[in-house]
Amino acid sequence: MTAPVTVRVPAKVNVQLAVGGLRPDGFHDLANVFLAVGLYDEVTVAPAEELRITCSGPDAAQVPLDRTNLAARAALALAERHGRDANVHIHIAKDIPVAGGMAGGSADGAGALVACDALWGTGASREELLEICAELGSDVPFSLVGGAALGRGRGELLTPLDVGGTFHWVFAVADGGLSTPAVYAECDRLREASGTGASVTDVPEPEASAALLDALRTGDAAALAAAVANDLQAAAVSLRPSLAATLAAGTDAGALAALVSGSGPTTAFLVAGEAEAEKVADALRASGTCRAVRVTSGPAAGATVLTA
Ligand code: C5P
Repeated sequence: MTAPVTVRVPAKVNVQLAVGGLRPDGFHDLANVFLAVGLYDEVTVAPAEELRITCSGPDAAQVPLDRTNLAARAALALAERHGRDANVHIHIAKDIPVAGGMAGGSADGAGALVACDALWGTGASREELLEICAELGSDVPFSLVGGAALGRGRGELLTPLDVGGTFHWVFAVADGGLSTPAVYAECDRLREASGTGASVTDVPEPEASAALLDALRTGDAAALAAAVANDLQAAAVSLRPSLAATLAAGTDAGALAALVSGSGPTTAFLVAGEAEAEKVADALRASGTCRAVRVTSGPAAGATVLTA
């Protein structure tokens, strides 16, 4: 019997998410600066009679256990390319907030892919794994590589970035999720309503901020705080107005920056250090404006095999 393989995969926060116009294919061009942070899902695969998924963790009930789960799709995609069956039991130990804008589903896709590759001895190249990740979703390649990276295209064309220090973060988990397509659609609607138009011909090409990349390179939290920006934030707050109170609670407690993580509804607070993180976390818990609070730091490593 082949031993199970477990892969640990990090969550992410987008320190910059610049969103271009709506493309004819329904996606948006991005300048997407990803930072992996130390909240992890663990994906374990073991040989089985047929493909099946189980999930544990506080949010497990919200995770689909059918073939729409990115972990199942990853196993099927790798199996198909290598002419084999995908008969594995995939177990997801879920710690990343579900539908929260922290790429938890993408993490499970990248994790299952790396785990199946190891279990089956497929020996797929890094390039092939990244190609499969890009087919699975825009954020999945970053879940594989971790660290920090600039994502162009729809976010899948990655350039790794140097990070010169550790950044401390507090995350406030909201009740319920937000649908990523709904948040992009709301971003388009707000642009139309403001009279600028929302298509690729109306919206300037998104660019990464030089000041933000410098701040990452030098590990300067105050400079990073001054440069963070999320073009989806207004849309997420429009769909979930209560997020404004969460953002204000973190800012009032001394966070250097407060922003919506990706398409939300998780909110992210950059803080100066561990002591400040505890202070902001306490204030967020006391505010009653969120369901849970998590303290962590980044950058974190990408998908990593724990046992083989
Ligand atoms: O690639 P992924 O499956 O994560 O995308 C989910 C949805 O998010 C897309 O169908 C699209 O509506 C939206 N999206 C987008 N532009 C991107 C990435 C995602 O419009 N760059």
